[in-house]
Amino acid sequence: MTSQQSTAVLIIGAGPAGLVLGNLLLAAGVDCTVVERQSRAHVEQRARAGFLAAHTVRVLTEHGLADGLHMYGQQHDICAFRTDSGEFQLAYGALGRGEVHTVYPQQDLVRDLVAEFLARGGDLRFDTAALRIDGLDGDSASVTVRTPDGSERLLHARYVAGCDGQHGISRSAVPAGAVRHYRRDHGVSWLALLAAAPQSMAAVAYAVHQDGFAGHMARSPEVTRYYLQCDAGTDPGSWTHDRIWAELHHRMRADRHGPLREGGILERRVVDMRSDVLDPIQYGRLFLVGDAAGLISPSAAKGANLAVMESEILARGLADRLGGGDGQLLARYSADCLPRIWRAQEFSHWMINLLHGPSGDDDEAVFLRALQRARLESLRDSRRHQDHFAENYVGI
Ligand code: APR
Repeated sequence: MTSQQSTAVLIIGAGPAGLVLGNLLLAAGVDCTVVERQSRAHVEQRARAGFLAAHTVRVLTEHGLADGLHMYGQQHDICAFRTDSGEFQLAYGALGRGEVHTVYPQQDLVRDLVAEFLARGGDLRFDTAALRIDGLDGDSASVTVRTPDGSERLLHARYVAGCDGQHGISRSAVPAGAVRHYRRDHGVSWLALLAAAPQSMAAVAYAVHQDGFAGHMARSPEVTRYYLQCDAGTDPGSWTHDRIWAELHHRMRADRHGPLREGGILERRVVDMRSDVLDPIQYGRLFLVGDAAGLISPSAAKGANLAVMESEILARGLADRLGGGDGQLLARYSADCLPRIWRAQEFSHWMINLLHGPSGDDDEAVFLRALQRARLESLRDSRRHQDHFAENYVGI
């Protein structure tokens, strides 16, 4: 193994977390290197989230990273809830703080962030997997990486940013007992679908149905995201095209509210609603960001937005410390992020309980479904509840 070079900040992972952090560090004049185990084509084509909160758009705009999303993104400010007793809509852009979402497919944002990082002269290495992190307690950290030609190299860094997702090596580099790991399995799974079809309605629609939740979310003029609640362990391939559309029409109550615009299913996968939070999200010279710091269920589309929030706070702390500051800002990274992470977790958890009720006719199931109905009615009828919802739905 040849010992290679050193950098101020080594970023592991080129998802939204790593790429936003890298761009913000470059803008602040901080030397950094990003290593990503997948190819450039792979990360630029990976379809994931798409709802960007107002704060996220502000951060990206301030740092010159938002040209694409301002040009091609769609502003979104209405969501609808369909239940047995009808549909109600919340025009959340006129509620709460008056903030709206920008819908911009995550792979397009990733493509923009990669292009910008490279245009600014950034060092971004695809097909380069981080294998091991050492020296987190010492004067400098080192990361062993496998390069595209299969050899191993050692990269030294003053700080390491673990932006490598929930299954990356950063989490496991933290010694047992140094952080607490809180987790919750919500016991709900969604079949997540991308359909080659324009959106069927202007609103994001959440259908609460005794046969399971169904959701409709715009992505781009040609592609729409749909969700169908399914049993855990479902094989996505077992859902045929016809069964998917029949079930979507049934649960979205198309007979009452109008048909959906059908199209080929481009992608299908099962997502289990799970959440976890690490506390603290820092150990020695390692800072965890995005899914590496905590996983949030997709029920309120908070994942990418939390990653941007954390990247912004970390970039400020690192720039301050590496620019000769006393390090207090950097030392507060975890304490500054965690209250916001828990707020987002609380709202996502509340959304899960809003959208899913237990099946069955035993007393407890009936009781919980009555609570769910009361929750939905409160949201339908109370302006104060709607303001609170809007503030949390778009905000962090
Ligand atoms: N070495 C290098 N790269 C790695 C390694 C490794 N050992 N392990 C994982 N990676 C890369 C993955 O290939 C991936 O590109 O880290 C990246 C992590 O990216 P994401 O999974 O997108 O995670 P993050 O950036 O935290 O995402 C933020 O956006 O869509 C949402 O679900 C996503 O909530 C998450 C948010």
